[in-house]
Amino acid sequence: MSMHFDPFSPDWREDPYPVYRRLRDEAPVHYSAEREIYSVTRYDDVMQVLKTPEVFSSRAMFTMLMSGGSDKLPPVSLKMIRFLATMGWKTRMNPFEFQTARNLIAEDGTSHAQLRAIVNRGFTPKRIESWDKRAREIVDSCIAPLRDGEPFDLVSQLAVPLPVTIIAEMLGLPAERNADFKRWSEMIIDFSSGPGRDDPFSKKYRDGFVEMMNCLKQLTKQSRMTPADDLLSIIVAEQEGEAGLSIREVIQFVMLLMAAGNETTTNLIGNLVSALLDHPEQAEKVARDPSLVPALVEEGLRYDTPVQVVFRTATRDTELRGTRIPAGSFVAAYLGSANRDERRFEAPDRLDVMRKAQLFPSFGFGKHFCLGASLARLEARVALEGILPTFPGLVRTGGPVSYVDSFFVRGPQRLELKLAA
Ligand code: HEM
Repeated sequence: MSMHFDPFSPDWREDPYPVYRRLRDEAPVHYSAEREIYSVTRYDDVMQVLKTPEVFSSRAMFTMLMSGGSDKLPPVSLKMIRFLATMGWKTRMNPFEFQTARNLIAEDGTSHAQLRAIVNRGFTPKRIESWDKRAREIVDSCIAPLRDGEPFDLVSQLAVPLPVTIIAEMLGLPAERNADFKRWSEMIIDFSSGPGRDDPFSKKYRDGFVEMMNCLKQLTKQSRMTPADDLLSIIVAEQEGEAGLSIREVIQFVMLLMAAGNETTTNLIGNLVSALLDHPEQAEKVARDPSLVPALVEEGLRYDTPVQVVFRTATRDTELRGTRIPAGSFVAAYLGSANRDERRFEAPDRLDVMRKAQLFPSFGFGKHFCLGASLARLEARVALEGILPTFPGLVRTGGPVSYVDSFFVRGPQRLELKLAA
């Protein structure tokens, strides 16, 4: 009998790795009839999916983002029309443009290249390196209470404020709205994570999206009048540029950068520190030799990656490891499983800072390779350099870690620590 696996089930969220191992061994290309999803879990197959965008289109990312995490856009219903119409009316934006508006992460081919070129300018190595000093200032002020011996929640006191402050400053958004940006980033992940859990067309999401879109619309207007040296100004200028972005596309761009810039890096820092607490010998090794911090960040990204899975749509009938995948199918490529594939990595369940793993897909691969990878690496490096001197005295004080309620983002909700006396 074939293995039962529900990609959206919360049952294996606390520790997905044994489930991935079974899938790799028993059903490497698994079909869930219930969800109509092909799940791909071996390293070679995940890379194959990421490397062939002409067969595995990113359109599925749109479906997932826009449908409350379902594998299909929900059928048109009265509730959906009411939701969209109310949003359109309250934001003064075309409600039905949501199906045609371009979104970097979900475009293919030349349309994707055109959108990517707009923001690439803001993420050059030189630009990213220039954030090092600011990241250090933020980390220093965030961890002062920990150094003073106070109880400390690593997530809310360091892993959240660091990326939210940096991405808001990069975009040129006002610092006093940082708490809102974080709340909205969480809402976006929550909205995309909830098949069967929440109704995507509920008042909660409608009001949240209206509030966020109206705020971003206002900030966009201001940026247009007084452009500055920031990402928002670069994107806004493209309303008149070759890409001819609509106001909705500008806002979607900002939403993507805000959510991608926040939720992922927060979880990387949380997962990394949690892994270090479970592997004190590795923490000690790096604390003794801080030149190993970049290697630790890489190994942390492989060991427990914040983005566990990305989605694709098969553009034609195809085959993967002997399984036929019909055109139009939804394909889930499990990055978190590829990173633990024993066919590729030796003793993959061990955190080993000396491993020097290459080409693991935590940031994706190919055309959609994460735009913010160097920024995420910089933030994680600076955060760890701040926190490592507190080892080996750092201990957990909370109960077992509970994870973000999502089937594609992975990280602790809280990580309570203190310095042992
Ligand atoms: C540890 C942190 C991060 C991880 C693990 C991560 C992971 C990923 C992955 C797996 C993709 C590929 C999606 C796909 O192939 O469909 C991606 C794309 C992307 N990421 Fe990240 N990300 C991180 C941090 C960031 C940051 C800090 C930013 C922005 C400030 C960012 C912005 C983006 C954008 C805009 C894309 C879409 C790129 C495209 O479609 O061309 N990410 N990220």
